[in-house]
Amino acid sequence: MYRTHTCGELRLKDSGSRVTLCGWVQRSRDFGGMTFIDLRDRYGITQLVFSMENNADLCNRARELGREFVVSATGVVRERSNKNQKIPTGEIEIVVEEFNVLNNSEIPPFTIEDETDGGEELRMKFRYLDLRRPCLRDNMILRHRMAREVRKYLDSMGFLEIETPVLIKSTPEGARDFVVPSRLQPGTFYALPQSPQTFKQLLMVAGFDRYFQLVRCFRDEDLRSDRQPEFTQIDCEMSFVEQNDILQTFEGLAKHLFREIKGIDIREDFPRMNYADAMSRYGTDKPDLRFGMEIHDITSEVRGKGFAMFDQAEFTGCISAPGCSEYSRKQTDELTEFVRRPQVGASGLVAIKYGVDGTVKSSVEKYYTPEELKAIVEKAAAEPGSLILIMSGRREKTLTALSELRLEMGNRLGLRDRNVFRPLWVTGFPLLEWDEEEKRFFAKHHPFTSPLPEDLPLLETDPAAVRANAYDLVINGTEIGGGSVRIHDSDVQRRMFRALGFTPDEAEAQFGFLINAFRYGAPPHGGIAFGFDRWTALFAGEDSIREVIAFPKNNSGRDIMLDSPAEISAKQLDELMISIRKPAR
Ligand code: AMO
Repeated sequence: MYRTHTCGELRLKDSGSRVTLCGWVQRSRDFGGMTFIDLRDRYGITQLVFSMENNADLCNRARELGREFVVSATGVVRERSNKNQKIPTGEIEIVVEEFNVLNNSEIPPFTIEDETDGGEELRMKFRYLDLRRPCLRDNMILRHRMAREVRKYLDSMGFLEIETPVLIKSTPEGARDFVVPSRLQPGTFYALPQSPQTFKQLLMVAGFDRYFQLVRCFRDEDLRSDRQPEFTQIDCEMSFVEQNDILQTFEGLAKHLFREIKGIDIREDFPRMNYADAMSRYGTDKPDLRFGMEIHDITSEVRGKGFAMFDQAEFTGCISAPGCSEYSRKQTDELTEFVRRPQVGASGLVAIKYGVDGTVKSSVEKYYTPEELKAIVEKAAAEPGSLILIMSGRREKTLTALSELRLEMGNRLGLRDRNVFRPLWVTGFPLLEWDEEEKRFFAKHHPFTSPLPEDLPLLETDPAAVRANAYDLVINGTEIGGGSVRIHDSDVQRRMFRALGFTPDEAEAQFGFLINAFRYGAPPHGGIAFGFDRWTALFAGEDSIREVIAFPKNNSGRDIMLDSPAEISAKQLDELMISIRKPAR
């Protein structure tokens, strides 16, 4: 046995025991007569002590130990005189009697501590060292615990975990596929699944009425802090259910995770909000409900007073930021700069200062009487002491910009506390989205999403107005999951394909296997998939899902450690009968 205990295990009650620990040298402090070494493993840190007086030879050897050397040490546990209350083992130390160097280490390229001096690229290159840092270690442990609780809950509800293949044909999620060339059928390609969507529906046809899988998905899309080219879903599907059954089952999963992982007991039902409401009140389909500051439509209040920008705009809206009426010129200029960023995309910003004493001041006061400004303030439901921030333009674009500004103000005012969680369901999304470039409708979710029964007659007459029987779970402004009730009626499916501009042959070529399967008794079914990385990052309080993935890709989709993607050999290309076109200069 290499060790009797871990480095996180020993306490005062163990004083006097003879123990052997193994781990990495976190740091070493040399006080002449005494040398202290912090020994670290996955479980914690324990202090080793060597004294010249007891054993000069041993102490001199200990002084030679470098950072990240792997060591085993045997000695006796004793109470520390200088206790460290910050760590669980801080009341004891090990008086070392013998030790072995199990391996040396080169000097690591950055410090292995939460506050490290290593930049992100460097840490990604040496990810195995990065993962030694306590914060990342804790994230991996959290991820494991979440996966365990997901399985525990879903198993208790009768769900079966069934694996689905990775080398498949294009799936209908709407991003670009990653493809894998076939050697046995040269010139043909597998696609990696963007999700197991079609398989889980086939499993419903097969009669496995409750399915789930913690599953890797692959999407070739532009990356952001909450998007990786390969990511993990908690993918679920159920038969003989309606929307409400699905929402209740998975609200149960969410509450289970909140309770078991965060210690938060949520008794009340999650609020449900219409897509249309979410858009008009928050400017987004994933509202952050940790704070108010809702958007108000003031189009008619500001129009027709001679201020050209507001007169001509399709839509004028505002938010009011409480306690900000004393913002300086510099501060409001900063906000204008913020909304002009390409990611926000607004042309400018008008502010009204609604003082605590009830006075109103604004840069547009030559166009509006004090009464008119007061009417705007009232429509904005602003309280005295607020700064009312106004934008105008095309409705959708302006709502999006107001949504970004709302989040920015939420950040500035400290209203987005990481330890507060506000989950909600967003429902009633549009079924179809018009693509101006291709001049055709696309499924907003995927082509198997059922329309709301009451909107079905509109499918041919007013497709854009049809709402989907679809839903998202949103927590704190992040889309954690999404799903839908599926179409199981072949006539409705035919009409849906027609609305999407697919000929029957095209539909057959792409989804023939599923359409065929549906001829043999498809049960009514529906499901949902959660972004497991996003959910873990949310619970870990991390901004980026990279922090909860052991070996993530960077923002250009590269694995810096492996140096991948990379070229392959001429022999491999030959076998696949692939020739590479040189990129045009
Ligand atoms: P959807 O495409 O909404 O639905 O994906 C479900 C959830 O997966 C997460 N997610 C991602 N996480 C990290 N990186 C990405 N690139 C990424 N893309 C998506 C999000 C999202 O809510 N088959 C359907 C589900 C269904 O209808 O049952 C699907 O995949 O949290």
